[in-house]
Amino acid sequence: MPLVYLNGNLVEEEEAKISVFDHGLLTGDGVFESVVIRDGKPFALRRHLARLARSAAAIGLAHPSEEELAAAVGAVAAAADLCFGKIRLTVTAGRGPLGSARLASEPTVVVAAEQLPDPPPAVAVAVVPWARNERGAVAGAKTISYAENVVALAYAAEHGANEALFLNTAGKLCEGSGTNVFCGIGGELVTPPLSSGCLAGVTRGLVLECVRVSERDITLAELEQASEAFLSSTTRGVHPIRRIGERELDWPGPLTAQAAEAFADLVAAGQP
Ligand SMILES: Cc1ncc(COP(=O)(O)O)c(C=O)c1O
Repeated sequence: MPLVYLNGNLVEEEEAKISVFDHGLLTGDGVFESVVIRDGKPFALRRHLARLARSAAAIGLAHPSEEELAAAVGAVAAAADLCFGKIRLTVTAGRGPLGSARLASEPTVVVAAEQLPDPPPAVAVAVVPWARNERGAVAGAKTISYAENVVALAYAAEHGANEALFLNTAGKLCEGSGTNVFCGIGGELVTPPLSSGCLAGVTRGLVLECVRVSERDITLAELEQASEAFLSSTTRGVHPIRRIGERELDWPGPLTAQAAEAFADLVAAGQP
C-alpha cells in the first residue's frame, strides 16, 4: 500500500482521511502541482513550489512553507521509490461551509505518488468547442477546479485524440487540458503568451530557456496550417503532435526535434 502525506504525517493510503466539509472537495477551492519523478527524484521541484505559491496567492489561499512542502514531497518520493512517476501536491482551503464563502481554517495538504506508463511517441489532439477564459478570476492559476479539463479530455477521446486544445474567448490558441502547446509557423517556433490565459507551465518555461521561441497569439487558421507542433508538460516533456483534428503532421518536425533534444540535455544535466 503506498504511503501518502496528509497534514504533517506520512500514513497508509487507507488511513488518509479528509473531512466531507473540506472546501476543496465542496467547491474546488485549492491549488495543486504535479511533479514528475525521474529515477526516483522529483524533477524541477523548486519551480513547482514557486508556482504553487503563486497559484495560492492568486486565490488568496494560505499554505505551508516551501521547506515543509519540499520535505513532504521528498518523503513521499522516497517511500514510493518509483523510476518514472508523478507526485501530486494538493493544498485546499481546509474545512469550509457548504457554500462558496471560506472559513478561517487550516489548509489541507496532501501529497500522493503514482507510477506512470511511458508516454506514446506522439499524440493526436482535438480542438474542443469550449473556450478558456483568459479574463477569469483564476486564469493562469493551477487550481483544483479541473472539471472543464475532464470534460474537454473526454471530448478529445470521443474524437480519437489523446489531448484537447482550448482556444480562449478571443478565439486564439491557449493550451491543452494539461499541457502547453508550441507550433511551427513560417519556420519559427511559436507558443501562446501567458496573456492567452494558459498556465505558465514549468516545462514551457524550460523550453523557452533552451530554444528560440516567439511568444505571440496564434489564430485557429495558423494552428490548422502549422507545419509541426508539440505539447509540453511535466509528465510528457516535449511531446510531438502527430495529428491535429483530421490533419496528419510530419513528426517530429525539425523545430520539435531541436526542442526535444535541448530539453533532454537539460533533464540529463540535473535539476533546473
Ligand atoms: C492546464 C495546464 N496547462 C499546462 C500544463 C503544463 O504545465 P507543466 O509543464 O508545469 O506540467 C498543465 C500541467 O500541469 C496544465 O494543467
